[in-house]
Amino acid sequence: MDRKEMLSAEKVIVIDFGGQYNQLVARRVRECNVYCEIYSYKTDIEQIKAMNPKGIILTGGPNSCYEENAPTYQKELFELGIPVLGLCYGAQLMMFLLGGRVEKAPVREYGKIQVAVDTSSALFSDVSETTVCWMSHNDYISQAAPGFTVSAHTADCPVAAAECAAKRLYAIQFHPEVLHTVEGTKMLYNFVRGVCGCAGTWKMDSFVEESVRQIREKVGDGKVLLALSGGVDSSVAAGLLSRAIGNQLTCVFVDHGLLRKDEGDEVEAVFGRDGGFDLNFIRVNAQKRYYAKLAGVTEPERKRKIIGEEFIRVFEEEAKKIGAVDFLAQGTIYPDVVESGLGGESAVIKSHHNVGGLPDFVDFKEIIEPLRDLFKDEVRKAGLELGIPEKLVYRQPFPGPGLGIRIIGEVTAEKVRIVQDADAIYREEIAKAGLDRSIGQYFAALTNMRSVGVMGDERTYDYAVALRAVNTVDFMTAESAQVPWEVLQVVMSRIINEVRGVNRVFYDLTSKPPGTIEFE
Ligand code: XMP
Repeated sequence: MDRKEMLSAEKVIVIDFGGQYNQLVARRVRECNVYCEIYSYKTDIEQIKAMNPKGIILTGGPNSCYEENAPTYQKELFELGIPVLGLCYGAQLMMFLLGGRVEKAPVREYGKIQVAVDTSSALFSDVSETTVCWMSHNDYISQAAPGFTVSAHTADCPVAAAECAAKRLYAIQFHPEVLHTVEGTKMLYNFVRGVCGCAGTWKMDSFVEESVRQIREKVGDGKVLLALSGGVDSSVAAGLLSRAIGNQLTCVFVDHGLLRKDEGDEVEAVFGRDGGFDLNFIRVNAQKRYYAKLAGVTEPERKRKIIGEEFIRVFEEEAKKIGAVDFLAQGTIYPDVVESGLGGESAVIKSHHNVGGLPDFVDFKEIIEPLRDLFKDEVRKAGLELGIPEKLVYRQPFPGPGLGIRIIGEVTAEKVRIVQDADAIYREEIAKAGLDRSIGQYFAALTNMRSVGVMGDERTYDYAVALRAVNTVDFMTAESAQVPWEVLQVVMSRIINEVRGVNRVFYDLTSKPPGTIEFE
């Protein structure tokens, strides 16, 4: 089976109506070993048919389906003989289009709600009779469409789920994709593996094998250049390309002096001459030129632009030195594709601000994006499959502009040293407390604030460090994590004692929104 066949043999299509959890739906389906892609509700039905999906899932969305101009779909979708599962807005739309009634709910349900389900339904097979589900809706289905039976309800919602088993059409008001729906994954599994009859052929080892074969075929004896940041995505892309084409690959790693403590050496240890990969690795130590460019600059966007531009300049210089490079490789992953508006319906969240952004002035024949179809957790699985060290595979996200956006105000070598040392202590203590895998992202930042303190009977006038730790599913929203007080106290006292230039430590409680995860 080639990669294309493998991706399409058992495909489930998610039709996106603009809800916030839509990428999660696709992720959960893939956790059931079923390949799945997201398409906008504007996608033509002929295109959907041509993909020959084993099942279709309609997502949630912010609209009311009975309003004029609300996103909708042709009724014919329900007559293709393909199983359809509607979630929240998708459920309401299915009922509405097929003759049921949807209206403003007298009681708006939001949060974890007890739902009574009919366990004889194929969708709720093996699910508890009363189960906690995540609800978030203003409208509700007051009457199921003709031919449908009600298969779940709550105290305030007479139709929490409805189905027409004969036509394999299912509608559920709550969100099975959100982890707060305790048995949600089981419900999605029941749909894709049970109702749709998928065998579960989507496995990481066969993906790696097939990708390697395809890369070899495409590249032939050409040369490939990859901008390696040391982050998870570009590292896994490097591992995959290296397995496929060995030293026809050159990785350029730019140390911009805004990396975490010892990070440059760690990346070099894995991918450099003494690491386990057969590739050409170039480390460019560009610290000085970055600090020179950033001197005196305080405006966050300006800082980001300078860091990005300088990266491209360095990369360009290296590409010229190597010469005759045919392919440029990038660690683009599926959420990048969706977020840049190429896949689903969700708004463009932010313009691509990876420092490894594509330099458009270099003349490459083609771009290779071997991870383009994968979610982050799948990228991690592929990384382990390729023998990339766990420490690298499970590393928390680190922004391309690095510490440059964790130092408020002007960036100087001195400030970088302070934030690197404080951050290293914080990470060490979090790991010691066994919290490093359970917190989504955590780091130290340097506020631009200095204040008066007293140390050893002396007056000090030093910087304040801010500690941040957030839990997040998708990095679009986040809540501050509850790091135990005792751990924070140890971190605070170590930072004050060990990091010169700091006399105060804050803990940032802000969620996103209104804050962002990074400081700039
Ligand atoms: P914000 O600060 O926007 O961050 O809430 C959301 C997530 O994105 C990461 N981030 C970046 N990643 N280049 C990146 O590759 C960037 O310029 C960038 N800015 C933020 C951030 O670390 C968090 O995980």
